[in-house]
Amino acid sequence: MNIVEFIKKVPKTELHLHIEGTLEPTQMFELAKKNNISIPFKNIQEVKAAYNFSNLESFLKIYYEGAKVLIKEKDFFDLTWAYALKCKEDNIVHTEIFFDPQTHVNRGIDFEIVINGIYKALQKANREFGLSFKIIMCFLRHLSEKSGFEILDQALIHKDKIFGVGLDSSEKGNPPSKFKKLFKKSIEEGFLTFAHAGEEGPPEYIWDSINLLKVKRVDHGVQCLQDKKLVEKLRNDKTPLTVCPLSNIKLHVFNDLKEHNLKKMLDEKLMVMVNSDDPAYFGGYLNKNLIEIQSALSLSIIDIKTLIINSFKSSFLSEEKKAEWISKI
Ligand code: ADE
Ligand code: ZN
Repeated sequence: MNIVEFIKKVPKTELHLHIEGTLEPTQMFELAKKNNISIPFKNIQEVKAAYNFSNLESFLKIYYEGAKVLIKEKDFFDLTWAYALKCKEDNIVHTEIFFDPQTHVNRGIDFEIVINGIYKALQKANREFGLSFKIIMCFLRHLSEKSGFEILDQALIHKDKIFGVGLDSSEKGNPPSKFKKLFKKSIEEGFLTFAHAGEEGPPEYIWDSINLLKVKRVDHGVQCLQDKKLVEKLRNDKTPLTVCPLSNIKLHVFNDLKEHNLKKMLDEKLMVMVNSDDPAYFGGYLNKNLIEIQSALSLSIIDIKTLIINSFKSSFLSEEKKAEWISKI
């Protein structure tokens, strides 16, 4: 079996995936029409042309615009179901997904509509083809901490469905320290914590995510290599770093996949793995991310196995399930 076949067939987990980032242009058009929402594109070609981002901020503008077509519980269900089918196709057996309730609640959509649509689709995927899952609610860091507290209040009624809280959106200028109290309260309420850090922002944001927000994983984290002490801490603590190669190229974190620092992170023995982030916007789901980064960095089969095993180890599957899946790799 060649390495591409291996990547496609091996059971995998995904730990960094925004469900709103799986909204494909065709589905965006169908929903816009059905819900009578105007979008700033005439056709799919125009949408694809707009996906020419210069940085995180320029992507987020279009991403929040796209999310406006999601109105009914069925829209969130269909969106999530389409992603679950991609998991089946890519042999993803376990996924831990993000959703951004403030993006929807702040334009008048009820929290229940959002969480129930997502949860019901994942439950169906679990029943029909065994996909296991966790749901992580992200706070939007460009908004205030007060807004985060308001959305946390709504999440409390759905503790049975929401496993953890994360932090996403515009990183630069919105440091983890802005959300220290919100994360403290989230932990007191029983949520595990996660945060995007060191995607575009400095290594200090990774330190602060660990020390102030007590995160279980750092999302992206690719800027860590600038700080030797941080690398040592991440290695010693086996802190997972959920790297997203195609996202990093689309948002110009690196100029080219060949310049991506994933191999250096592997060589530093960091707990890294590959994820797709917002696949409908960045040009590919998990297998494509793995296949393209393998080719660009000439990763060995051992490197690929390490990435996949790291992902299982960094997931919140039970220890028994982790061992069972890892034994199949
Ligand atoms: N929201 C969706 N994708 C994101 C990313 N890559 N970084 C920060 N916020 C996001
Ligand atoms: Zn992300």
